[in-house]
Amino acid sequence: MKQIPFHKAYITDEEVNLVVDTIKSGWLTMGPKTIEFEERFRDYIFKDENKKGYAVSCNSCTSALHLALKAIGLKSGDEVIVPTNTFIATAEVVTYFGAKPVLCDIKEDTHNIDVSKIEDLITEKTKVIIPVHFGGQPCDMDEILDIAKKYNIFVIEDAAHALPSKYKGKMIGTIGDITCFSFYATKTLATGEGGMATTFNEEYAKMMKVNRLHGISRDAWDRYTLKGSWYYEVIDNGFKYNTTDINSALGLAQLKKAEWMRKKREEIAQKYTSAFIRTKVTPPIIKSDRETSWHLYVIKVNNRDELFEKLRENGIGTSVHFIPVHKHPYYKKTYGYKNGDYPVANYVYEKSLSLPIYPSLNDDEVDYIIDRVLKYAK
Ligand SMILES: Cc1ncc(COP(=O)(O)O)c(C=O)c1O
Repeated sequence: MKQIPFHKAYITDEEVNLVVDTIKSGWLTMGPKTIEFEERFRDYIFKDENKKGYAVSCNSCTSALHLALKAIGLKSGDEVIVPTNTFIATAEVVTYFGAKPVLCDIKEDTHNIDVSKIEDLITEKTKVIIPVHFGGQPCDMDEILDIAKKYNIFVIEDAAHALPSKYKGKMIGTIGDITCFSFYATKTLATGEGGMATTFNEEYAKMMKVNRLHGISRDAWDRYTLKGSWYYEVIDNGFKYNTTDINSALGLAQLKKAEWMRKKREEIAQKYTSAFIRTKVTPPIIKSDRETSWHLYVIKVNNRDELFEKLRENGIGTSVHFIPVHKHPYYKKTYGYKNGDYPVANYVYEKSLSLPIYPSLNDDEVDYIIDRVLKYAK
């Protein structure tokens, strides 16, 4: 029997050598490698833009979202619209401010926020919409930007899954006010833990840079080098959210492969979809005007829990994305959400199963997964 984990990061000698060189350099925390990673990431995201963009690295997508919400001035009592089908981080960061995550239902086809339901949720307290590009497929950004403009609210994109993804030819990272990426171990660019915020707004970029390192007024990371100075001033109540040069070394090596790794995942997705079409298994639907990173490949079946168990017995790791936010005890207790709220998200949650999709998955393994899914799906 094969043993196929749900995820395996694609790590080559390039990553290993760069990390070893970094460790041997004696500089372990944020420093030259982090600055280089930020610059390369910025160049990659904004390569087709004719305006200057900014990239700010930090230690997770959660911290990037926190920094972004602080940069746009979120305050206690404000409301933020978040899809209920997301990882808890998207809603949790809103609570850091004493603001309220206002949940929105999703579309059955894409599992992304249902834009037709957003306007009903807007009140005079609404400050931000956080669209989540589920599995890597971009949300309906034109409609979201139109609503944001009409009501004068900010758009902060949760692009934890969306590197690299495109909406109508534009890279995700170049659309909303600020976009936040994740480099968590299972993500399409993996540094173990890590995150990045991108924006065209210089002020936001400056604020996020200051606040990722205790609110210190200038690039304090080099205060222990010969060119640095011991003096600094704290100008804001910041956080300890910087990444390290060890993580950034991984990021530099991974970034070079980002397009190639997407292509490999796309090939796997195409194989899965051609096998599942017109069977009991509903494959994911990608809209024709967008490109997904293929971070996730989520099927829908009638016997999700049974299929999960059968695949596990057959050595295949799978997962579920996501338990909707409104079903978690803390959110029910604090905001009065109920299990039965958000019928589409509930339906999707009951049926969804995420299959392995990563560059090192070989043809035999993909065939084996297809065979077992078709054998046990109902
Ligand atoms: C949609 C979404 N947003 C945010 C996050 C948080 O990312 P990180 O672990 O880098 O903080 C995740 C992580 O799984 C996620 O899936």
